[in-house]
Order: sequence, then C-alpha cells, then structure tokens
Amino acid sequence: MLLKDKVVIITGGAGGIGAGISRAMATAGANIAIVDINEESGQALVKELEDTGVKAIFMKKDISIEKSAEEIKEIVVEKFGKIDVLINNAHASRQANFMDTTKEMFELSFHTGFAATTYLMRACYEELKKSKGSVINFASGSAMKGMAKQASYAAAKEAIRGLSRVVANEWAPDGIRVNIISPIAETEGVENWKQDHPEAYQSMVNEIPLQRLGDPQKDIGQVAAFLASDMSSYVTGQTIMVDGGSIQLY
Ligand SMILES: NC(=O)c1ccc[n+]([C@@H]2O[C@H](COP(=O)([O-])OP(=O)(O)OC[C@H]3O[C@@H](n4cnc5c(N)ncnc54)[C@H](O)[C@@H]3O)[C@@H](O)[C@H]2O)c1
Repeated sequence: MLLKDKVVIITGGAGGIGAGISRAMATAGANIAIVDINEESGQALVKELEDTGVKAIFMKKDISIEKSAEEIKEIVVEKFGKIDVLINNAHASRQANFMDTTKEMFELSFHTGFAATTYLMRACYEELKKSKGSVINFASGSAMKGMAKQASYAAAKEAIRGLSRVVANEWAPDGIRVNIISPIAETEGVENWKQDHPEAYQSMVNEIPLQRLGDPQKDIGQVAAFLASDMSSYVTGQTIMVDGGSIQLY
C-alpha cells in the first residue's frame, strides 16, 4: 500500500500506458482521477478500479484547452480534498517528414503535450505545495534519438523534459518533485500495429536489450508508483528510462 489514500490525477488515463499506471497506482492504494477524451473506456476503468476498493472518478476533458486544467483541479479538490500526484501522460501527434509537417501537426503535438503539461502543473501548484506532492511527465526515446518523421512529437517531448528540469529546481524548495518517464510499452495501439507489421515489430523487439516491450501496468505503472511515493523522496528532475535498456543515459 505504497500510495494509500494518495490522490492521483492522470491524463490519458483511459487507455494505453495511462490505464496501466491507473491500475498500478490503485493496486498501491491510491484514489485515481482519470482525465481523457475517451469516455467509454474511462468510465469502464473507473468501475474496475472501484471494484478493487479505491475511489476513482472520470473527467471527460480535452487537456489541450487551457481552461480544462483549472476545471480538473476544482473537481478533484472538491471530490477528494487534495492532490498528491499529477501525471501528464496524454499526448497526441502525427508522423511526417519535417518538410511535410504542417502548422496544425505542430499545434496538435504542442497543445496536447507541452501546453497541457504547463496548464496542469500551474493549476495544481498550490495543492501540490500543500501535499508536498510529485509530478510525473512523459518523454520519448524516439525524441531523444531524433527518429525520422517525429519532428512535431520530438520537439514537444524534449520541450517537456527541459521544462520539467526547470520546474523541478524551482519547486524543490516547496517539497514538490518533478520527474520524467521515458517508456516503451505494448499498448493497444502497438498491438494493432504488430498485427499489420509483424516483421517490423520483431525487429523493434530485437533492438531492445531486454528483448520485449514493457507492460503498461507491471513495468511502467510500478515505476510511476515508485516515483509518486515517498520511496523516491530524494529523486527529482530526472528522466527515468523505462525502456528495457534501449537508451542508457550517463
Ligand atoms: N507506448 C509507447 O511505447 C511510448 C513510447 C514513448 C513515449 N510514450 C509516451 O507515453 C505516454 C502514453 O503513451 P500511450 O502509448 O499510452 O498513448 P495512447 O495514445 O495509447 O493513449 C493516450 C491517451 O490519451 C488520451 N488523449 C489523447 N488526446 C487527449 C486530449 N486532448 N485530452 C485528453 N486525453 C487525450 C487518449 O484518448 C488515450 O486514452 C505518451 O506521452 C506517449 O507519448 C509512449
């Protein structure tokens, strides 16, 4: 019960890695506030989490809209009385060569990724200060490596990392920690892609030292639970690679 009675906000919590993190944190005893545009999956997950004995709510909000952040904070504080953990996980983007990347593609990636992360961190600051809470933002190995066709995604992801380090330093005196997870995980999206491109999938797996993709709950969710908990009370401003050893920072 690493996170017993902690209150966690997670964006994109209805599917993929976000759903895995929601499950891992609920298993650790946290109450979960899921933010997503996918209401059906979000409501189904709330029911599943409540059946395990924790409290959970779903908020249908588009995080790229600035006023969503304040609304989310208000709802969570009214329902749970506090915020201990903010997880900025949701991020939408489209792939294209740099010269074909449109202004709209940059806007989609920066609004759902970078801007939404800033809106929610600002909206939750006072509550995180009271709880001496923790923020977890999301990076990507493809951005760190500069993978082709990822211009809008990579630019927003690396902006999130830069921002996270600055805020980790600014908020350290308040007792708020800010860390970043860079995952690789087998989500529903990856599963679908694997069906259509089995060879490409296999060659991707072959390049991962641990020779498999991560599990959203067991691999990514448990590291997120650790970063959200007092067990990591001396860790801030770090990018934690949860990618089977694909990128080894030094
Ligand atoms: N899956 C991987 O292997 C991988 C690798 C590197 C980085 N990441 C990062 O990890 C995070 C989670 O990835 P994922 O693969 O689970 O993503 P996903 O696309 O499977 O899930 C994202 C969730 O966010 C929601 N969402 C999208 N736009 C939204 C919006 N405007 N407002 C609210 N919710 C919105 C979606 O409905 C979905 O439930 C992302 O930041 C992603 O960039 C994932």
